[in-house]
Amino acid sequence: MASKSKFQAIRGTRDLLPPETALWNRVEETARSVFGTFGFGEIRPPILEPTELFARAVGGDTDIVSKEMYTFEDRDESSTSLRPEATASVCRAYIEHGMQQLPLPVKLYYMGPMFRRERPQKGRYRQFYQIGAEVLGGSDAPAIDAEVVEMVMAFFDRLQLPGVQLEINSIGHSADNCRRGYVAQLKSALEKVKDKLGADSQRRIETNPLRVLDSKLEHEQPIIENLPRIADHLCDDCKAHYAAVKHQLEMRGVLYRENWRLVRGLDYYMRTTFEITAAGLGSQNAVCGGGRYDGLVELLGGPPTKGIGFAIGEDRLILSLQEAGKVPLTTGRDVYIAWMGEHAHATAIRASKSLRAAGVSVELPPVEQKFSKALERASKLNSRYALILGDNEVAEGSWTLKTLADGSQQKFTEPELLDFLKPSL
Ligand code: HAM
Repeated sequence: MASKSKFQAIRGTRDLLPPETALWNRVEETARSVFGTFGFGEIRPPILEPTELFARAVGGDTDIVSKEMYTFEDRDESSTSLRPEATASVCRAYIEHGMQQLPLPVKLYYMGPMFRRERPQKGRYRQFYQIGAEVLGGSDAPAIDAEVVEMVMAFFDRLQLPGVQLEINSIGHSADNCRRGYVAQLKSALEKVKDKLGADSQRRIETNPLRVLDSKLEHEQPIIENLPRIADHLCDDCKAHYAAVKHQLEMRGVLYRENWRLVRGLDYYMRTTFEITAAGLGSQNAVCGGGRYDGLVELLGGPPTKGIGFAIGEDRLILSLQEAGKVPLTTGRDVYIAWMGEHAHATAIRASKSLRAAGVSVELPPVEQKFSKALERASKLNSRYALILGDNEVAEGSWTLKTLADGSQQKFTEPELLDFLKPSL
């Protein structure tokens, strides 16, 4: 089927085509519906943002900002980037529109493409899609953390996503001693085993020691298991918050597993972090990541503001649904109008208009076809019915509707046909 042309989609980007796009639409409609029931409204931030926004929010030393952003100098010489994520944009918009004046918390969701120059593989693309949500302002009550997680799980449940597993952690508070003290201890423990670590982890001891915990390298696993754990260093407030989040999850019947190594790859997190994996995805099995980021709005120049949210990798979500056999039915037509003759064409145009207005999908061939050809094409397009309209049928006012699955035929007048098709489709 595929043929080579001079132009191809850029590496790591791809075309989403029907019938797969029907599944994308269903996923997005489900997100809108579920998030709506939790009181979230949609925000559509731009795809281009000042580079500095991500450097500040996500962190200059993170892989995302230091290696993966698509950045260019705009004509006014300002550095501009394609967004690698949207939390920073939502916080920028919160400040820009003075949303702290609104009843708090402000609950927003978004969906759309993100861009990261990662090495492409199954479930990992350079243009990928996220469905995310953020809760900004108001309190940092643990019930908010739990409700946000409950919402993603309800969404996955509605889609019947297979093998969903939630992992949670608390990474403490950056301003207090709890995180700083822990990172210092971790760093010195890492220095001691530096020679046994791979190049990436060795580099991260300096740039971002927490990220070493994320390593998937097999030979590093026993070393990491023996490193100091954040749970043993949380301050009393962080400990109480984490315990309350777990209790709130239990109250909501949300099953979780604790993972002390869950640290996330963006700098803005504090306290609650979580990730959700799903079946059928191989090594790129994280289908959702999120956490609390109190302080991010302030870091971007806004008022002190609590924040928590998540983003779902929509490409991975779709892959997992497909692997589980939840593919959409191939899109077909309800009615294919097989017309022959000039009068029949005029009638066919009129009939297609009233059928489409009634919500029936109609394929109207632009040029006359022999009935045998028309029926062949009707089945190729997965049509349910063929409406046969020759000059005779038009003159007699009696139209033939053929059910393609079994070849049976029925005769109708025009109003009868509309009546018949409307309720049955
Ligand atoms: P993240 O963990 O970087 O978090 O991304 C969230 C999800 O996006 C991942 O779990 C994964 O499913 C998907 N994803 C990331 N990179 C790729 C890629 N290259 N190809 C396909 N899918 C990918 C964030 O982006 C945060 N902004 C989430 C958040 C919102 N935290 C608080 N609010």
